[in-house]
Amino acid sequence: MRNKIEKIKDDALQELEGVSDEDALNDVYVRYLGRKGVLTQYLRGISRLPADERPLAGKEANRIKGIIEGAVKQAGEKLEASGFDPKDALDVSLPGRPMERGNLHPVTKINNEICEIFVRLGFDIAEGPEVETDYYNFEALNFPRYHPARDMQDTLYVSDSIVLRTHTSPIQVRTMQERQPPVRIIAPGKVFRCDSDITHTPMFHQVEGLLVDVNISFGDLKGMLTTFVHQMFDKKTGLRFRPSFFPFTEPSAEVDILCVICRGKGCRVCSHTGWLEVLGSGMVHPAVFEFAGYDTSKYTGFAFGMGVERIAMLKYGIDDIRKFFDNDLRFLRQF
Ligand code: PHE
Repeated sequence: MRNKIEKIKDDALQELEGVSDEDALNDVYVRYLGRKGVLTQYLRGISRLPADERPLAGKEANRIKGIIEGAVKQAGEKLEASGFDPKDALDVSLPGRPMERGNLHPVTKINNEICEIFVRLGFDIAEGPEVETDYYNFEALNFPRYHPARDMQDTLYVSDSIVLRTHTSPIQVRTMQERQPPVRIIAPGKVFRCDSDITHTPMFHQVEGLLVDVNISFGDLKGMLTTFVHQMFDKKTGLRFRPSFFPFTEPSAEVDILCVICRGKGCRVCSHTGWLEVLGSGMVHPAVFEFAGYDTSKYTGFAFGMGVERIAMLKYGIDDIRKFFDNDLRFLRQF
């Protein structure tokens, strides 16, 4: 009896020695300690021994069982410590996980597109600060002190003389103070107004344009903006120049394009007028040239400014400007 149990122990320990993976270890466990395992059978057999031999044999068998169990546990720990079995951890036949791809924000895309069109037409990119002085945002653009656009309703004031710029037009003056004509610049940037509804957000983007040279006429302005609209939308997109007013341009015109949805027939998007307003423009007011230090007897020029979100809404058929700023990936992924 005693030899038999010793042999079971020796065999088990020797087999455990050679175990090299989880499957083999499990196999040894089942063969010795499982329900039909060698040691289990042996323990059952003890009940058939003469009564006086049973206690000792049982005690001995349980001691051996403890030894084998300990050895199995140790072998398991050793396997774990020796690193994982790549066969279990990695299925090299599985397809790889695709990396999520980002994309540019629709407003960034349209902003870039607008700038690229004008860069191809010979314009340089210019920039200016978002936190601007009242002087550049209003004063040097010929806004009289009492002009309603200075009202707290629209302008976000930082202090009495500092504002968050309400438009990109201050870049016109800043650029002219730095450069002599000819000037052809395009100035993209964020602007801020105290306003919020389905067509207005407190922050939005504009692109400003300025061209100053000798002999620049309103005809040049019309030609340039027509070229722009045809490239931004398509050649069939008609334009109309509607008389308007800005303190820093004279004469001034707002530019409407034929409704991109109904092509002029009249629909909900164009409020049944057939036209959509896309930008403000005009010939630079001589008073602005004076603030900039340009010779008004020599130079003329035109300027224009457009809202990037507005163009993006028209181009992509989006009805609520706030969608651009909700950061809903289901919306943003479509562009
Ligand atoms: N700055 C004007 C606005 O924000 C747009 C504009 C720019 C008009 C340049 C004329 C010339 O409404």
